[in-house]
Amino acid sequence: MARLAVLGATGRTGQEIVRRAIEAGHDVTALVRRPEALPVRDALLTVVVGDARDKDTIRSIAQGQDAVIASLGRPESGRTKDEIDDSQPVDVCEVSTRHLLTVGSSVGLRRIVLMSTHGAGSSNDGSPYVVKLRDMVGNRVFDKDRMEQQLLDTDTEIAWTVIRNPYIYEGPLGTPHAVHEKIVLDETSRITYADLATFAIGEALQPQHPNTFLTITEPLTGSAAR
Ligand SMILES: NC(=O)c1ccc[n+]([C@@H]2O[C@H](COP(=O)([O-])OP(=O)(O)OC[C@H]3O[C@@H](n4cnc5c(N)ncnc54)[C@H](OP(=O)(O)O)[C@@H]3O)[C@@H](O)[C@H]2O)c1
Repeated sequence: MARLAVLGATGRTGQEIVRRAIEAGHDVTALVRRPEALPVRDALLTVVVGDARDKDTIRSIAQGQDAVIASLGRPESGRTKDEIDDSQPVDVCEVSTRHLLTVGSSVGLRRIVLMSTHGAGSSNDGSPYVVKLRDMVGNRVFDKDRMEQQLLDTDTEIAWTVIRNPYIYEGPLGTPHAVHEKIVLDETSRITYADLATFAIGEALQPQHPNTFLTITEPLTGSAAR
């Protein structure tokens, strides 16, 4: 069984990753700002309270892990989607990734899986879907842009995979989906938390797509499919 750290473990995807990794018998270390927001309790789970932008926190979390999965997003802890002030700059993905690549590397970390957003980096393709997304939650996407650019700019022994998510929803495991290195999305693109979490754990522990940016989505039925 493996040792896996999850950043953003109180998030919707993060919780799903924690639960499924424990079910699979892995030792999980969860980084959280609000321990009360992670309802999972298990002998295989260690909860660490801290901020993912803190270098020493990332050093201690990364130490001894087979892989780290970062599922970091909403900037304001404890707020719902509608309560978050999206006019504020966001840097959690950029800063935590910088620490993973530097101090993580120095403590022997060799594998990271990072959640991003379809529309960041080279997937900023000018499609109506991406234009609307960057208009709505630009500061969060700009953070992902900078996170992704750092990976391209850094010569590292850490193998990384970036998952650029479409809309994520509550649904069953095993809903038909596919992995794409290049795809134009539309408003019908989506993936379940269950499928995304399962894919991320698999990619972390048995990498099929090292040093790759990819998008995982169910089949499109909207404008991009025509
Ligand atoms: N949900 C979607 O439809 C969607 C669509 C496209 C892309 N994405 C991306 O996919 C990933 C997963 O999405 P999600 O909806 O599951 O995320 P989420 O529910 O917004 O969870 C984000 C997590 O990041 C944590 N976090 C943020 N800043 C932090 C910091 N400085 N230190 C420690 N933890 C911090 C949050 O902690 P708190 O609980 O304390 O706030 C939370 O656990 C994210 O990268 C998101 O941007 C999501």
